[in-house]
Amino acid sequence: MDKILVHGGHSLSGVVKISGSKNSALPILAATLLTKEPCVIHHVPDLSDIHYMLQILSHLGAQVERASGTVTVQAEKIRTIAPYDIVRKMRASVCVLGPLLGREKEATVSLPGGCVIGDRPIDLHLKGFEALNAAHRVEQGNVKVFAGQLRGSKVSLRGSLGPTVLGTDNVMMAATLADGVTVIEDAAAEPEVVDLANFLNKMGAKITGAGTPTIVIEGVKELHGATHEVIPDRIEAGTFLVAAAIAGREVTLRRVQPQHLDTVISALNESGFKTSTAGSALTLHGNGAPKALNLTTEPYPGFPTDMQAQMCALLSRTGGLSSISETVFPQRFMHVSELKRMGADIELKGSTALIKGVEKLSGAPVMASDLRASAALVLAGLKADGVTEVNRVYHIDRGYESIDEKLNGLGAQIERVKA
Ligand code: EPZ
Repeated sequence: MDKILVHGGHSLSGVVKISGSKNSALPILAATLLTKEPCVIHHVPDLSDIHYMLQILSHLGAQVERASGTVTVQAEKIRTIAPYDIVRKMRASVCVLGPLLGREKEATVSLPGGCVIGDRPIDLHLKGFEALNAAHRVEQGNVKVFAGQLRGSKVSLRGSLGPTVLGTDNVMMAATLADGVTVIEDAAAEPEVVDLANFLNKMGAKITGAGTPTIVIEGVKELHGATHEVIPDRIEAGTFLVAAAIAGREVTLRRVQPQHLDTVISALNESGFKTSTAGSALTLHGNGAPKALNLTTEPYPGFPTDMQAQMCALLSRTGGLSSISETVFPQRFMHVSELKRMGADIELKGSTALIKGVEKLSGAPVMASDLRASAALVLAGLKADGVTEVNRVYHIDRGYESIDEKLNGLGAQIERVKA
């Protein structure tokens, strides 16, 4: 397994281009199953999670072609059973259930196991499919959903931990081809849900309200092919903003949608970092002496759970006592023990990390776990004394396109060691 060696102490400056959003591209690629016609998707990032999704689409019978950032998919005839050996590698594969159910009225996908950030149930997805008159059964670790006819209705997708992003995507996709109108209440409002709805509407769907807690889908008979450009990845952008805050002088991100990063930008401003925007460019002016913060992760438009680990890395070296409470994935703190190996002073109380800023972190061999925790360890290494060796780098490659090369382009000194 490859590992990344981060040589600390090099400051960052310059310009970095942000890739297309992984969490938008994955459901949009799944949505191409809803039509027999070709779909062309631009700005698809080159990540292992995307590679797995393309493998699943091909296994389901779609013709898939990739030419650098553009993917063309044509699903003329499709099978409805997604292969376990690929699905087990990527939980987000669950988002093929909705399009397969919408088009073929049945779908079988292996149940996503848990993962390091916590249990990953799909009860809300199934609740949404049931509301569309579909039944489901679980057999040999697979979930099969099926319906004679899909009928629109009203359903709330709020769980005990808030709305569900992929659950909203799944039900929205299935509902595009249901008879009648579907109203999803307590829907996820993430920008990636809006991007998917925009793509589905280009395919001939009739969706309103995406980006608000109530999404209305008027079912249509069929959908046609469409072309779409995926939105920039707001979590990659946020990760680079934190890298600049940790080790930067002045770093500019190109091709971002700053309005998707409001809570991350305000947190960094509150900690004392100046930012400026010009169109789709976003600049952070590092000043090296951040102030403590108290943050709570929440569903969009709140502070994103996918930025929690990165902020832990920043606040580990901030004067004073900070806290980060995780309300979306309460166990999502695998990075804490690794940051403590680097000298961070963090105490976990339930689903809150209490972070006492220390003067310095020191490089150490650390273990990557989920993709955001792994990125946080690389960020911590940027300013640590000595070398930080991040093992199991495949976690990072799932969600970040060449993060080492992009950081080196800003002045970092990072080596990727082939195992
Ligand atoms: C999406 O996962 C993202 N993944 C995650 O990003 C992100 O952390 C998450 O949304 C929250 O924003 C993709 O878009 C591919 P959820 P998703 O369903 O949709 C519970 C990354 O780093 N829940 O919104 O799977 C669930 O356990 C990844 O790129 C149920 O209880 O997350 C969690 O506590 C990690 N029942 C909460 O809701 C359900 O049926 C939010 O989960 C579904 C979810």
